[in-house]
Amino acid sequence: MNTIEKFNEHVMGTYGRYPLVLEKGEGRSASGEDGKLYIDFGSGIGTNSLGYCDEDWADAVCRQARAVQHTSNYYYTKVQADFAAKLSEVTGYDKMFFGNSGAEANECAIKIARKYSFDKYGKDAKRYNIITLTNSFHGRTLTTLSATGQDVFHNYFFPFTEGFLNAETNNISDLRNKIDNTVCAVMIEFVQGEGGVNPLDKAYVDELFRICAEKDILVIADEVQTGAGRTGTFLASEQFGVKPNITTLAKGVAGGVPVGICLADEKCGEVLTKGTHGSTFGGNPLACAGGLAVVTKVSSEGFLDEVCAKGEYFRKKLAEIPDVEGVDGLGLMLGIRLKGKSASEVCGKCFENGLLVLTAKDKLRLLPPLNITYDEIDTGIEILRRSL
Ligand SMILES: Cc1ncc(COP(=O)(O)O)c(C=O)c1O
Repeated sequence: MNTIEKFNEHVMGTYGRYPLVLEKGEGRSASGEDGKLYIDFGSGIGTNSLGYCDEDWADAVCRQARAVQHTSNYYYTKVQADFAAKLSEVTGYDKMFFGNSGAEANECAIKIARKYSFDKYGKDAKRYNIITLTNSFHGRTLTTLSATGQDVFHNYFFPFTEGFLNAETNNISDLRNKIDNTVCAVMIEFVQGEGGVNPLDKAYVDELFRICAEKDILVIADEVQTGAGRTGTFLASEQFGVKPNITTLAKGVAGGVPVGICLADEKCGEVLTKGTHGSTFGGNPLACAGGLAVVTKVSSEGFLDEVCAKGEYFRKKLAEIPDVEGVDGLGLMLGIRLKGKSASEVCGKCFENGLLVLTAKDKLRLLPPLNITYDEIDTGIEILRRSL
């Protein structure tokens, strides 16, 4: 029995997978069991932010594995303290909670928002509703599926968690109409990733923040996909000139070890008290060691300028391809609109030709490692042109 047959015999079939057994990665390329090499413009969905097995990152994780790999949260670890302090310095948030995934970080954000209102306005106020936006994606747990603003995800698993309302993305009057005294938070993605790589309008964001501040409604930014340098600033919120009360991170922030982080500002950073939240693996030393290596590198002098420059370079090169209608997104989070071609078919062709890319709705989506080189961009784009 080969690896794929063995895998399919035992692992639930929840994913559509390419017939590729990834065996090894180096830099921005991965190779399969058969030795075939692939340039990776997907980074394991924006997660391998420093590519495969970056030396500093791998050293940090291996060193930690030989020291202490797990402790439970009954004890302290230096690596969690160091990672938290570094994240605080880079993001400006003093308080955070560590979990293991994007969905878990968002669950934490939702609990903070509801408890903030419970503590301040009391149980009888029933101020627990959270507004999310159409076309959003917030995760696969029951509550984050309920938060997700796409009906295609609201099936099979009834009953869903109550207390989520949907407002139309970039439509400020719809948001105003949906806000009443039962709303405790509005949850947004600055660039909707799974929804098709669509950035929010700056004017919409400004007004949303103004209304929420006026009504003591918390703003939650789901930066699971956009965070940790992906859009050219450490947080996408920096480009919009706003600071959400809560920001969630996951995917790229620890370079490929599982982590989910919920950052909270001075208004709500003390809301979760002893016994109100927890996670066995949360703040795991291996994840914190990987995270510290990533955040140190991504926040080092000039790194994010390079991310912006490479994002511009991608756009320029992609615009030269006749089948490309346009490119959406920010930094190295790119959504390619194609002229009359199916994104999933092109994705399959790229795979055959040795390039890993993603789709988001009807677009091709690129989330390359943040340290990709110009030569690798050129080679990958040539494969994409050929595949188109
Ligand atoms: C914006 C956003 N939020 C949440 C999630 C869920 O993250 P995870 O799969 O780590 O639970 C994703 C995953 O794609 C995402 O893009």
